[in-house]
Amino acid sequence: MRDQAESLRMKMLKSQGSLARSVAIVSGKGGVGKSNFSTNFAYALSMKGKKVIIIDMDIGMGNIHILLGVSPSYSLKDYLMGTRSLDEVMNEVPEGLAFISGGSGLDSVMEWSEAMFDRLLEAFEYLQKEYDVILFDMGAGATQRSIELLLSVDEIIVISTTEPTSITDAYSMMKFICLKDPEKSLHIVSNRVGKDEDGTETTARLQFAMRKFLSVETKVLGYLPEDPMVHKAVVAQKPFLLLYPNAPISRRMKAIADAFIDPHSIVDSQKGEGFLRKLRKMFTKGSG
Ligand SMILES: Nc1ncnc2c1ncn2[C@@H]1O[C@H](COP(=O)(O)OP(=O)(O)OP(=O)(O)O)[C@@H](O)[C@H]1O
Ligand SMILES: [Mg+2]
Repeated sequence: MRDQAESLRMKMLKSQGSLARSVAIVSGKGGVGKSNFSTNFAYALSMKGKKVIIIDMDIGMGNIHILLGVSPSYSLKDYLMGTRSLDEVMNEVPEGLAFISGGSGLDSVMEWSEAMFDRLLEAFEYLQKEYDVILFDMGAGATQRSIELLLSVDEIIVISTTEPTSITDAYSMMKFICLKDPEKSLHIVSNRVGKDEDGTETTARLQFAMRKFLSVETKVLGYLPEDPMVHKAVVAQKPFLLLYPNAPISRRMKAIADAFIDPHSIVDSQKGEGFLRKLRKMFTKGSG
């Protein structure tokens, strides 16, 4: 009963657009297409009327700005260091999409001052009210800081290609996350799929393994085909969804966005305030 009331309250908050869904895009093995996914997924969501911000967590090697064809002057680091305002590090691109660049050298900042931590929370508090979805494009390496962030977000989208090595690494990543936080809402997408059956088989295998070995339910959002248009779009520095809106890969991406927006995909107990609370706990623990 309490759960139902809580669920309803959260749904209402969501429908009023009060709090953003915080979502990390991750993979086990690197180079599986996270950044291209993040960029185009963000566009797909914004085309459906969602207000989306991408935060590039690939510190030092971020490429969201390249994929979007924007040259940001400042990064998240400038904001955290207090030299720039949040407004100054946020970049707007057409279609109501915003992003914050990861910048370079943030990893060298090992000690987070109280002031930096406060600024981070302040930023998220503000972004959660301003946006419908906050997407974190995670880097290939798992740093302590990125793991803390992963455990704080409400939802995680795990990307895997159809290669066995990518599938086992994606499973290991999901297992790691679940052992730390069994209530995390996990979604699965397969990328660079040759035949349709390979895509559905990959996601089904991951879903099955999670259910059988960890008793964890995951949601399959869909799959994206291998498509040379991805490369063309990267070269053109525009999302493929914008350049080729009717291509099969774009249609698949729109279907993934639909599956994500589907209210049944929302796990209720962990949304909104949960994100800030967890983040605060993680960072306080980390610095103490
Ligand atoms: N569906 C696809 N079809 C064809 N090529 C793709 C597809 N998805 C991604 N690629 C290509 O794969 C390469 C890696 O993509 P991307 O940079 O998005 O991966 P990543 O997971 O973000 O990598 P990293 O782990 O280094 O951050 C790029 O060259 C991109 O063009
Ligand atoms: Mg990337």
